[in-house]
Order: sequence, then C-alpha cells, then structure tokens
Amino acid sequence: MIKISLGGCNPFVKKAEYDAYLGKAFAAFDELQGEKGAGNDFLGWKTLPVDTPESLIAGCEAVRDDWKALGVNLVVVIGIGGSYLGARCAIEALSHQFLPAEGAPRVVFAGNNLSEDYLAELMDLVEKSNAACVVISKSGTTTEPAVAFRIVKVYLDKTYKDSARRIVAITDAKKGALKTLATQEGYRTFVVPDDVGGRYSVLTPVGLLPIVLAGFDIRAMLKGAADEREALLSKAEGNAAIQYAAMRNLLYSEKGKKVEILVSFDPRLQYLGEWWKQLYGESEGKEGRGIYPASVIFTTDLHSMGQFIQEGDRVMFETTVKVENAKRSVVIGSDEGNLDQLNYLAGQHVEHCNRMAQLGTKLAHIDGGVPQIEVSMDRVDEYNLGAIFYFFEFACGVSAYLLGINPFNQPGVEAYKKNMFALLRKPGYEAQTEEILKRI
Ligand code: PA5
Repeated sequence: MIKISLGGCNPFVKKAEYDAYLGKAFAAFDELQGEKGAGNDFLGWKTLPVDTPESLIAGCEAVRDDWKALGVNLVVVIGIGGSYLGARCAIEALSHQFLPAEGAPRVVFAGNNLSEDYLAELMDLVEKSNAACVVISKSGTTTEPAVAFRIVKVYLDKTYKDSARRIVAITDAKKGALKTLATQEGYRTFVVPDDVGGRYSVLTPVGLLPIVLAGFDIRAMLKGAADEREALLSKAEGNAAIQYAAMRNLLYSEKGKKVEILVSFDPRLQYLGEWWKQLYGESEGKEGRGIYPASVIFTTDLHSMGQFIQEGDRVMFETTVKVENAKRSVVIGSDEGNLDQLNYLAGQHVEHCNRMAQLGTKLAHIDGGVPQIEVSMDRVDEYNLGAIFYFFEFACGVSAYLLGINPFNQPGVEAYKKNMFALLRKPGYEAQTEEILKRI
C-alpha cells in the first residue's frame, strides 16, 4: 500500500488551514465517487484493477508466447502521451539498468516524437533484429505514432511474409484510421475502452501488453492496483489520496506554490516522473490554473537543479517518492590506504548513504522554504507499481475536482496540431494554411 507523510509541510501550514482543505478534499472525493462530476463518462479507469477479465490478460500473454515462438527479440512499441508513458515507466523501473533481459525481447519506444534521426536509428536496430510491433493510439489518428508506424510497417511488410502476425494494434473498438487499417490487414487488436482516457490507461492493454511482452507480471500489477483501490475507497482522514489532494491544493492556492516537483532517489523511477507529469499536467493545467508538474532524480539533479530548489524563486514544493527497500545489496569496502578518505563509510550499504542524502535534502529544502510531501512504496516491483499508478490516478481525480477542473479532457492539446496540420497542408486545412502562412 502507498503511504503518505505530510510532516515536511508542518513548518509552512497551520492545522486549521489543512483541516479546511481536508474538508474540500472530502467533497471532491464525493464528487469523484458519486460519478456525476465533469468528465464522468471517463471514469472506467477506477475499476480496471477489479474488472479486467482473465481473457484479456490471457490474450496479452498469448501474444507474448506467439512472438516467443517466432523468435522475436525486438518489440517496437509505438504511441505517444498516455499511449506509451505508463508502459515505459513500468518497463524502465522493472528492467535491469545495464543488461539485456533474459528470455524476453528488448522493448523500445517510438512514435513519441517526429525526429528523423530518431526514426532512422530505430530502423538501424529494427533491421538488425527479429522484430515485431505494437501500435497504440486510442483515437487512431495521432500524427506522431501514425508516421512511425507507416515506416515500421513498410519495413515489416517487405521483410517478413508473416508481417501481420508481427503487428498488434491497440485502439478504439470502432473508429479511427488505425482501427480501419488493423481490420483490413487482419492484425490482432486490443481495445482501449471508451471510458478510459489515454493518461489513465496504463492498466488497460495500452500498458499491460507492452509490460507483459517485456517479461513482467501484469497479474501482480493489477493485484497491487486492486489492493490500493480498496485502501482508497473509504472517505477518511487517513486516506492517502485525500491527504495528498488536500495538501497540494492548499500549498498551491494559499502558499503561492505553483510548481510541484516529483522527486525520486532511484533512477529507475525517472519515467514515473514522466508518467506523473503527463497525468497531472494534462488533467489539471486548464483555464489558466493548475500546479506545474516537474520531476527530478536525486542525488543526480541535486548537482543541477539543487541550487535553484534551495535558493531560487520560492514557487515550489516537493513530493518525494520513497522506496522503502532496495532490491540488491552493495556494501562499500574498506581500503587500507584510504587515499579517497572514504573509510568512514566502510561496511555501509550504498542505500544507507542514499537515505542519509534523502534526509539531509529534506531538511535542507525545508530550511530553504520548500514544503515536503512524502509518498512511500515498499519496493520497485510489479505489485507496488500497480499500487502507485492507481494511487496517483485516484488522487489526481480528487485533486482536480477540488481545484474545480475537469481532469478528464485535454482541449489544449489540439492547438499545436491545428497549426501543424495547416503547415503540413493536410487536406481539409487549406483555409488555416493561408492564415498561418501570413503569421510566419
Ligand atoms: O492522455 C491523453 O489522452 C493523451 O496524452 C493521449 O494519450 C495522447 O495524445 C495520444 O493519443 P492517442 O492514443 O489517441 O494517439
């Protein structure tokens, strides 16, 4: 279960202030659970951990086993935003950081940018591999994944007689170009449920299929999410999601803290920060409001962003994701010469140093005027990742409703697309092309 500690906010917040926001968070919790609030047709994510049928899990595992039989050693996962960040977060957190996975293909990501060099280098790898591809787009029309898929598909079609067996599409049940293409080409498909938005979709096939292909246990992930859901069902002061929503909104609305930095002291969680930024940024950043979500990895970024966080403009608070237990053990040895003067650490676990760095940073940042929230997970594994995904999703719903924002739409994402389509001369955008050319 995910635990929360708000002790690092005490120097900045009076109890009465917090109690007032706790009351607002209870009301927001009721709005989310009553399912009558703005965007309430996108609440399917709430029950995914307990609703996901065995047939869907078995379907994901069947693709894994089929591609194993083909000897596939590279899976290209194509998608952008909510259609890749959850899977990438889980796979990067669970994978060995240096060695290739044993008994599972390498999973790489594409379709999340429009860099020509990125795609060229991706194809260098695809051409050297026994490749397969998962293409993910809920709308089935997003340009970045469509471009990447066109390039990968052309190569797979020309290289493998069984190319259709090597492609799986995850998209809407009925509409969109990807759905039409997948049906015509005879690809295996999985459905992104209508009532689950992209950034809440990690526990649908959007996340589950890539994660299982990378060799990880999606049943344990769903179990972790289910247990976390159970823990967050009660409207009580001890509900960690309610506490998180209350405190972050208080800091934002009453204390001028416009930026929240998600901190981890474990580089494996870098993409948890990326996933969380999209979840909160796209859910809350609307109508001229919202906390700006940023992320750092410490101690790495203490040597880059640490100066600003300690002494720069006092606009931020930090939420640290603490991992209670390391997976491995590395003890610092003793050295007779002690020329590096490190013998005072001899016999200590590296994780002990990490914890002391964590504590030292917390105290320093409190002294520097940066309130501290801590969210703890037991260890980095499938079960706990499932729990933290669900925790942050649920807390996001409560938090956005507290702020008075619909967390389930993203109208602002369209603005750049319209301009880009006009500039690319996409059919149907002729009028905008003339207008936009006058502006550049
Ligand atoms: O959260 C969201 O809805 C977005 O980030 C989408 O996931 C992203 O824009 C990709 O959309 P699609 O899956 O339709 O290609």
